[in-house]
Amino acid sequence: MLSEQFISELKARSDIEDIIGAYVNVKRRGRNLVGLCPFHSEKTPSFTVYPDSQSFYCFGCGAGGDVVTFIRQIENLDYIEAVKLLAQRAGIPMPEDGYDDSFAKLKTRILEINRETARFYHRCLISPMGKKGLDYLRGRGLSDKTIRHFGLGYAPEDWDATIRHLRTKGFNLDELSAAAVAVKSARGSYYDQFRGRVIFPIIDIRGNVIAFGGRILDGKGPKYLNSPDTPVFKKSRNLFALNFAKASKEPALILAEGYMDVVALHQAGFVNAVATLGTSLTAEQARMICQYAQEVIIAYDSDGAGQKATNRAINLFGEIGGKVRVLKVHDAKDPDEFIKKFGAVRFRLLLEGAGSAMEFEISRLRQKYDLESSDGKVEFLKEFAKFIADIRNPIERDVYVTKITEELRVSKEPLVAQIDYIIRQRAKNAERKQARDLTVFASSPKDRRDPQRDAHLKEALAEERLIGVLLKNPDYHRFILERIQPEAFLTDFNREIFRVICERVEQNRPIELIALSEQLDERQMGKVAGILADAASTGATQKETLDYIQTILAGRAKKSPEQLKQMDREELEKYVAGLAAKKK
Ligand code: GTP
Ligand code: MN
Repeated sequence: MLSEQFISELKARSDIEDIIGAYVNVKRRGRNLVGLCPFHSEKTPSFTVYPDSQSFYCFGCGAGGDVVTFIRQIENLDYIEAVKLLAQRAGIPMPEDGYDDSFAKLKTRILEINRETARFYHRCLISPMGKKGLDYLRGRGLSDKTIRHFGLGYAPEDWDATIRHLRTKGFNLDELSAAAVAVKSARGSYYDQFRGRVIFPIIDIRGNVIAFGGRILDGKGPKYLNSPDTPVFKKSRNLFALNFAKASKEPALILAEGYMDVVALHQAGFVNAVATLGTSLTAEQARMICQYAQEVIIAYDSDGAGQKATNRAINLFGEIGGKVRVLKVHDAKDPDEFIKKFGAVRFRLLLEGAGSAMEFEISRLRQKYDLESSDGKVEFLKEFAKFIADIRNPIERDVYVTKITEELRVSKEPLVAQIDYIIRQRAKNAERKQARDLTVFASSPKDRRDPQRDAHLKEALAEERLIGVLLKNPDYHRFILERIQPEAFLTDFNREIFRVICERVEQNRPIELIALSEQLDERQMGKVAGILADAASTGATQKETLDYIQTILAGRAKKSPEQLKQMDREELEKYVAGLAAKKK
């Protein structure tokens, strides 16, 4: 456990405004700050930072907590790693030991395994055994220099050649399966995850090998096989080749679909290309891209799936406010094939000519409707108005509106009126949503998935308010603890939070958020932040506090129909008498 002195110093030097401000674009509103939540997709801000309590809470998704919780979630770290990162940032030395770092140690081990595995695959590729793989890569136009640069490899066809090699390096089977280079079969034996495939190591921005993608050469199986998520790898928050692309001087990143596209692009000199890892783009990846570049150029495959994915990506970037251009690959299925057919110079021209996201959307829309017919025109213009309403800049809106109305030979005014109407309507809805957010007491979408809370809503609210009273008025703790114990809580979720707080109070340990985040997980911290964000428990009177306690105790005394059925007569009579006594 970390010392209280260390934690309080860390807190003093880690202002939540500065820390969150580095990740989220927040604007001041009164005492607090609001912005678009980095943990879910939204168009109107529900994410709030409270400098007074040094907490954050999102009314949309229920994420919340202190600085440590925030760093854990946004950087995908465990508690101790998040504390380390904050300590480093604040220039405070970490205490040497005294905390459980077994998970951190496992991660270090996995990274060592991955590095050794990547080396092994690469050596296999350039050895006689890997001839098939090497011929394949050369056949696809990759130079030996490119193959080395990306550390491409070949996984031998044997069932366990990789495992055997890694065991000679001192790694055990548990570690190898945690790293997902070994897979445990139903019979309990272990075999290699990748066999007979060319390998693309996935390297994070710190230069760690975190996972692998393997392309099949022949035989059965999926074309690409990727490492599953492991303690050091989450597909949804990494990008292939970002380790190289982040160093490029280009103001834009090129986002391609496949590993091969990226490798071919880098070889042709476009070292700012990245790709997702066998999945479609996630909001997290979109945000990462926006962190590293002023603009993204989407260069997906030219087939229907690629165009659909482009549309999805445009929406994602739109939500987080990233600038997008879309590259159209003509006469080739993807950038890799285009470069092979037409060369790097022509690709450069494509890049320069890449249109805005709006142009892409408009041309997609055009294809959807028959613009020769009146009906087609009307339907087209209706949808067109919705798209244009997304553009914030009125001058930009005017450019598109003028162009389209001239082309379709319709008058401009009705379209402009329609667009203005949509914009006003959306603003109204956004305002309403915010008003609604503020009235929902600590009930995040996550709560709605807690059936216990639904079944005892009245008591659950009282539990939450009581937790709030205890957190905001620690001097009430004796008053509260003399009257109610965690066991009396009706919902397991709130009980656990209350138990942790009570335990700390009794041990005279601090109960501020940053201290609690050592013991509470992300969901629990979200709840606590939600409770704090609610004003109801601030300055609660003793009477109100008593009411909360009584609501919980009364709810506890009430039995469910099932419980009543199971009571014998004597118990039942006692219970009914007890209820009657309470009423008086
Ligand atoms: P080549 O056919 O080798 O040129 O690859 P490509 O990169 O052009 O592949 P494709 O366009 O078919 O797919 C694009 C990306 O989607 C790949 O790089 C993979 O990341 C992913 N992908 C393709 N096939 C599979 C599959 O079978 N499973 C998984 N998980 N991902 C795949
Ligand atoms: Mn492709």
